[in-house]
Amino acid sequence: MSNKKLSGEVYYPSQETIDKANIKDWDELNKYAGDNYQKFWEERAEELHWFKKWDKVMDDSSKPFYKWFVNGKTNISYNCLDRHVKTYRRNKLALIWEGENGDSKTMSYYSLQRETCRFGNVLKSLGVKKGDRVTIYMGRIPEIIIAMLACARIGAIHSVVYGGFSVESLAERIEDSNSKVLIVADGAYQRGKIVPLKQIADEALQRCGTVEHVLVVKRTGQPINMEFGRDMWYNELINLPVVSKECSLEEMDAEDPLFILYTSGTTGKPKAILHTHGGYMVGTYTTLKYVFDIQEEDRYWCAADPGWITGHSYIVYAPLLTGATSFMYEGAPNFPYPNRWWSMIEKYGLNILYTAPTAIRGLMRFGESWVNRHDLSSLRLLGSVGEPINPEAWKWYHRVVGKEKCPIMDTWWQTETGMFMITPTPTVPLKPGSGTRPFPGIKMDVVDENGNPVKDNEEGFLVIKTPWPAMIRTVWKDEERYIQQYWSKYPGMYLTGDSVRRDEDGYYWIIGRVDDVIKVSGYRLGTAEIESALVSHSAVAEAAAIGLPHEVKGNAIYAYVILKAGKTSSPQLVEELRQHVSHEVGPIAKPEHVEIVESLPNTRSGKIMRRVLKAKALGQDPGNISTLEE
Ligand code: PRX
Repeated sequence: MSNKKLSGEVYYPSQETIDKANIKDWDELNKYAGDNYQKFWEERAEELHWFKKWDKVMDDSSKPFYKWFVNGKTNISYNCLDRHVKTYRRNKLALIWEGENGDSKTMSYYSLQRETCRFGNVLKSLGVKKGDRVTIYMGRIPEIIIAMLACARIGAIHSVVYGGFSVESLAERIEDSNSKVLIVADGAYQRGKIVPLKQIADEALQRCGTVEHVLVVKRTGQPINMEFGRDMWYNELINLPVVSKECSLEEMDAEDPLFILYTSGTTGKPKAILHTHGGYMVGTYTTLKYVFDIQEEDRYWCAADPGWITGHSYIVYAPLLTGATSFMYEGAPNFPYPNRWWSMIEKYGLNILYTAPTAIRGLMRFGESWVNRHDLSSLRLLGSVGEPINPEAWKWYHRVVGKEKCPIMDTWWQTETGMFMITPTPTVPLKPGSGTRPFPGIKMDVVDENGNPVKDNEEGFLVIKTPWPAMIRTVWKDEERYIQQYWSKYPGMYLTGDSVRRDEDGYYWIIGRVDDVIKVSGYRLGTAEIESALVSHSAVAEAAAIGLPHEVKGNAIYAYVILKAGKTSSPQLVEELRQHVSHEVGPIAKPEHVEIVESLPNTRSGKIMRRVLKAKALGQDPGNISTLEE
């Protein structure tokens, strides 16, 4: 690739980047992995610890229920912690954490392992066993990592609910996962205010009946309700002298569930994506190592939230699997001032920053001087994820933050893929706005409505044509939905739900979702969640939500509402409806605008034609409306 002249605007890697990179010759690796993809993944798996080796790398006999590392026995938590504690990495920092209020904490691999074991024992003493579900609802604090690793260690399945979700979202997820234990923080600092997580959880617990024990991590310290017999302080239990720092672990089958994570899909309620110990471990480990080129001395910062897949894979698991030092920050990027992020890069000498386009656009608004007052010379690599990055933001990130010496790894992937799928590695020539090409060993394509490949530069549906280790195994408790959603449109090909264009150099340019998923500030929300929150309000008869372009957020939510007979529209009601969505789903889902309307464009079968609403709002031609009722 390096000898070929590429079309369009291209940024080539510097010699320094090439000299340092884990993968020097991407084309060679891509050819090798493409020709021998099972062998490629097998060799990566061999770099990790297995209690028993697999009999077969991949089994597709019951596809689309693929299996990886069949009959292999491992434990991802062991690979994240114990494996390093036995080496020179024992006292290496695993985690550097800074709170929004200036608190800070560091944990070595040894101390993280010790706390994980102690907490694993606490969970065991509450009766948590292999296969049980545990819901975790916290902000970005070290305990969220400890809680996830402790669950994995004892074979429990964690279900993390993002701390920006609210009452109904939390209740629904606890109920669907049938969790007996909830781990929650008293609160989280966000922009100088406290998000009352425990209070939200109390309200959620009134709506669902599965939870027997609530473990509360003290973070913000405001008075909270502690229900006798149900609620206990994490900090007290973990420090009890009877709680041992030795915690025997479960030897997990490669295909045993590691976690479920709820995400929004095309229709109905959020669904839980299931990932496993073996394949997920190998996939996340390999991709982080190669894409962010993890070096022993690196300090790596993924600024996402552990409550989303980016945090699961690339804050919690992959950095620990690679033995890296990871940085985590609790709060908002511009608190108290817009230099907060840059000041921390300087203070801790961070080498890699991985964030989302929305954050870059948000910080861009404050101007370059906030960045320029800090020494960012430690940075070596930058990353982007969650939505397409517009070339203007890419160039700003590259020039102002990366000082034109840090390649940007624009990684395309999904909750379902578990790991990076379209991404450069540091030596790959970059084109602003494109995630370049599929990761070695991954085969993707762009197809039309009938599943036939489209020509270069034509828009089509993005599909994945070979299985990969970190792939979704199923939708929790709903195998039918797994097949329907991902494998039924084009048998044998995984449907991503994205539309895309591939250029003459084989570079992919993501256009966006083609289903009812809206990406707001990179967060994935379903129109159905917002609409069902709106119709749960006593004044609302019917509702429709769409995403419209927004300068910073990428997309913003616009909602259209028909009121019940006898209810009248007013600015107060509109505001109340926005607040209601925020209270039920979470502040991230709060509509930018709610419009009260007399009717909605329905098909004759009663389905809302969001496409028509969107075209109308944008002043565009709605296209084919022959199925419209009136
Ligand atoms: O539309 C794509 C967009 O995010 C969707 C997946 O969302 P989620 O499951 O929440 O995972 C986000 C983080 C991995 C995709 O279907 N997306 C993700 N990364 C990119 C992206 N769109 C363009 N460029 C990206 N780098």
